[in-house]
Amino acid sequence: MKINTAEFIISNSEVDKCPKEFLPEYAFIGRSNVGKSSLINMLTNHKKLAKTSGRPGKTQLINHFKINNNWFLVDLPGYGYAKVSKRTKSVFQQFITDYFEKREQLVSAFVLIDIRHEAQDIDIEFMSYLGESEIPFCIIFTKADKISKVKIDSHVAAYKKKMLANNWEEMPMHFVTSATEGTGKDTLLEFIDEVNQDVFKQDSEF
Ligand code: GTP
Ligand code: MG
Repeated sequence: MKINTAEFIISNSEVDKCPKEFLPEYAFIGRSNVGKSSLINMLTNHKKLAKTSGRPGKTQLINHFKINNNWFLVDLPGYGYAKVSKRTKSVFQQFITDYFEKREQLVSAFVLIDIRHEAQDIDIEFMSYLGESEIPFCIIFTKADKISKVKIDSHVAAYKKKMLANNWEEMPMHFVTSATEGTGKDTLLEFIDEVNQDVFKQDSEF
C-alpha cells in the first residue's frame, strides 16, 4: 500500500473525544522509548508527524493520524516509565485501558517490543490483558538495526519460547522492523491493507 496522505487529527486523553468517524484504526502501544512514534513516522514517510525523543515519556496523549483519508494510525503513551509519578501513572493507565476497552473502531493493536532485550514481564502482562479483553494484536519487534541480522531469528525464537512458557498457545503474528532503515515497512503496510479490505468487506459498521 502506498501512503499518499498522513495528517495529524487530534491529541487527547479521553476516548470520548477521539474522532467520531468510523474508520478502521491501528494503535501502537509498548514500553516508553521502544520506538512507537518513530515507527509511525517511518511508515508514513514523515520525519516529524509523531513527536519522538531519546528520553522516555515523550508521547503523553492519544494521537490520531488519518492515513489516505481512509484509516487511522494511533500513537499512544508508553507504559513502564518509572519516572512518571504514581498519580500520573494511574491516570495514564486508566485512559489507555479506556481507549482499548471502548474504542470500537480499533481493528488491531500493535505491541512494540525492542528486539534487543529479553522478554519483559510488563509486556507479557500487557499482552495477557489484551488477550483476556479479546482485543486482537500483533507484535512488532523494533530497532532491528541495533543487532546483527543473524541474531534477529534467535531473539524472535527466544521471545516465542517465553510466550509459550507463559501459557500462550502460539506466538502472535509478528513483524521485525527498524525505523532508521525502513525494515518491515512494506510487509506491515501490506498487512494493514489486507485487514482494511477485509473489514470494509465484512463489517457493515465500517
Ligand atoms: P514514548 O513516546 O516516550 O513512549 O516513546 P516511543 O515509543 O514513541 O519512542 P520514540 O519513537 O520516541 O523513540 C525513542 C528513541 O528510540 C529515539 O531516540 C529514537 O530515535 C530511537 N529509535 C526509535 N526507533 C528506532 C529504530 O528502529 N532504530 C534505532 N536505532 N533507533 C530507534
Ligand atoms: Mg512516542
